[in-house]
Amino acid sequence: MDRSKLLLLGASGHLGSRIAKALAATDYHTTAVVRTKEKGEALKPFIAEYIVADVLNPHQVSGITQHVSVVISALGKSVLPNSKDKQSFYEVDYKGNSAVLRDAIKTACKNLFMCQP
Ligand SMILES: NC(=O)c1ccc[n+]([C@@H]2O[C@H](COP(=O)([O-])OP(=O)(O)OC[C@H]3O[C@@H](n4cnc5c(N)ncnc54)[C@H](OP(=O)(O)O)[C@@H]3O)[C@@H](O)[C@H]2O)c1
Repeated sequence: MDRSKLLLLGASGHLGSRIAKALAATDYHTTAVVRTKEKGEALKPFIAEYIVADVLNPHQVSGITQHVSVVISALGKSVLPNSKDKQSFYEVDYKGNSAVLRDAIKTACKNLFMCQP
């Protein structure tokens, strides 16, 4: 039987990497969304596959939820004071998640879990 496909955004983060590890003990076929190949490779023991994408790039988000049963978003701009990331909370937490949500509406993916407060 085919395993249910699950898309995990923010998989390389504090919360996302713990979710990835927890999912490894389930039957889900987990695809992690990461920003670099290195981060995807580091998650390989816990996931089925990874894709490299920046959620603020519309071309990279388009169709990202296609053929996926469940989406979990642990996306977020880093709260660490020494973070070198130039993107804002508004861009990542709001615009990034909104882009994923819009894609899920388009692809009729009904199970979305957002970790944002
Ligand atoms: N930590 C907690 O205890 C906790 C509890 C409840 C809710 N939350 C919420 O969960 C979210 C994540 O928290 P966290 O502590 O895990 O943060 P984090 O460690 O900074 O992780 C954020 C994740 O988002 C990814 N990301 C950031 N910008 C991106 C972009 N433009 N495109 C694709 N991926 C991007 C990061 O990728 P890179 O690795 O490439 O930077 C990383 O995987 C936040 O919204 C936070 O408010 C956290």
